[in-house]
Amino acid sequence: MAGSRSTNYVDSDDCLLEYSYLFSPDLLRGKVAFITGGGSGIGFRIAEIFMRHGCNVAIGSRNTSRVEIAAKKLVQVTGGRCLSLCMDVRHVDEVSSAVEETVASLGLIDILVNNAAGNFLCPASSLSSKGFRTVMEIDTLGTFNTTKAVYERCFKARGGIVVNLTATLGLRGQVMQVHAGCAKAAIDAMTRHLAVEWGPDAVRVNSLAPGPIEETEGMRRLGGSWARSAGLFQKLPLGRAGSKLDVAHAALFLASPAADYITGITLLVDGGSWLTTPNAFPDILPSAKL
Ligand code: NAP
Ligand code: COA
Repeated sequence: MAGSRSTNYVDSDDCLLEYSYLFSPDLLRGKVAFITGGGSGIGFRIAEIFMRHGCNVAIGSRNTSRVEIAAKKLVQVTGGRCLSLCMDVRHVDEVSSAVEETVASLGLIDILVNNAAGNFLCPASSLSSKGFRTVMEIDTLGTFNTTKAVYERCFKARGGIVVNLTATLGLRGQVMQVHAGCAKAAIDAMTRHLAVEWGPDAVRVNSLAPGPIEETEGMRRLGGSWARSAGLFQKLPLGRAGSKLDVAHAALFLASPAADYITGITLLVDGGSWLTTPNAFPDILPSAKL
């Protein structure tokens, strides 16, 4: 398959130059996936890997040109179908329209990946109520809005798979991340609640919690450069930061029949990071210029 040129910058998401299959190339043949925030970063790589495995994909976010450009790249490299959608996960009507458009264009949705999120580093003492609420609304409420819309339209009658992108922030508590840690912990709870409630409808719901992932907006915003220059990644149990492909392969597994008996879990894809990484960082707290 052809590949476009990778730039290594977070501002320009490109498909992989080369890809070696670890799973059957037909793993998701004929399936339809809906991926929020699929125009950039981890979501973009998940869309690419799903498409390389035969899945047709809808990617939705607020920035129309971002998702349109991403969809073109994905179609060009994988030869699959990709629908770009403009939507804000905080707005129920926009989410519902995007789901309807996906069904009309690609067919009923089989897999939902809730990947859209917002984050920034901010000490709790400086964080406004609106700042906290904004992250809760994008991450937690956005995940609920999208999951509910897809469940009602597609999953209730015929089952389906939900993969929620969360994080390890709240497992031990981390400085400057009270908003995101709470939002992601709430999504992990949602994962368990919905797994129990919708298991009888043949709906599987799991969380996927990445650690530090190279070449992402998340890493750029959350002190990635500082952590790299401090040599933190070499000190992780697996000795490196993760790649977007590491996360995409885990998402592919959770979305595949190989995970048919897995529901209600949070799968950590972090190289053991949360077990050993310091979570206090007192030396970076005063400036927070990362
Ligand atoms: P990213 O590229 O910034 O991805 C976030 C996406 O969400 C963007 O495409 C953004 O697109 C979309 N988005 C934001 N607000 C939205 C809204 N209100 N409605 C619809 N879409 C919205 O960041 P990333 O680093 O790849 O992160 C992807 C996921 O992995 C997130 O859930 C993040 O919390 C999680 N994660 C990442 C890391 C990491 O190291 N990168 C670590 C742990 C967890 P628009 O701006 O166009 O809306
Ligand atoms: N530090 C402290 N507070 C901040 C902040 C920061 N770096 N960035 C935003 N906020 C606060 C704002 O000050 C505002 O509250 P206020 O009016 O009380 O000051 C509130 O958050 C909402 O900000 P706004 O810019 O209006 O929100 P938005 O909905 O346009 O954008 C964000 C949402 C802030 C999360 C924005 O960073 C975003 O769109 N992120 C998406 C990409 C991303 O975060 N990727 C990484 C995923 S891990």
